[in-house]
Amino acid sequence: MAKQFWKGSALLAPVPAALVTCGTMEKPNVLTIGWTGIVCTRPPMTYISVRPERYSYNIIKESGEFVINLTSSAMVRETDFCGVKSGKDINKFEACGFHTVPASQVSAPLIEECPVSLECRVTEAKELGSHTMFLAEIVAVAVDEKFIDSKGKLNLQQCGLAAYAHGEYFALGRKLGDFGFSVRRKKHNSKRRK
Ligand SMILES: Cc1cc2nc3c(=O)[nH]c(=O)nc-3n(C[C@H](O)[C@H](O)[C@H](O)COP(=O)(O)O)c2cc1C
Repeated sequence: MAKQFWKGSALLAPVPAALVTCGTMEKPNVLTIGWTGIVCTRPPMTYISVRPERYSYNIIKESGEFVINLTSSAMVRETDFCGVKSGKDINKFEACGFHTVPASQVSAPLIEECPVSLECRVTEAKELGSHTMFLAEIVAVAVDEKFIDSKGKLNLQQCGLAAYAHGEYFALGRKLGDFGFSVRRKKHNSKRRK
């Protein structure tokens, strides 16, 4: 089995194609972000890496706040659009038909159409090169009630989340297992035991 060795690049996949909102309810903006992830559980912390030339960059830098809105397959066209058009030229909320909802802890709005939104407060801005990483604490999470069952469990599978891999968008497929399933003892089938 032969491997080709390429020079170092940002080829980590899949990543989310998240819609990051910034600004205020009165003057919001949204851009698509692939370079994001979780970096700590307690306190819950994330990052987004943003190029300084983005219109959103100064808004996030000055306000120290943003919201990461997870996207579904149904929104993939709008997600791409928000990643190729700038808020300095157009109102992307109007263009995409997105509705804003006030966040609970930050000034930046949530996107109503997104199933899950993470309200974030910047703790550090680190200039890395092409991008500046905004390290941030997740201060609140807003979840669309229609994905919460009667037991209070969030059913992410029903959201139809989308992913981004090496320049292409994908729909998340079927569930293959859950955390720790590989080592979990199988439940005995009561009928079999009899
Ligand atoms: C799938 C996808 C992922 C992207 N990820 C990032 C990213 O992580 N960081 C970034 O600075 N720009 C990223 N972009 C580009 C910005 O979303 C794009 O330049 C956008 O138009 C900036 O909007 P603004 O000028 O209104 O801030 C991405 C674009 C797409 C389509």
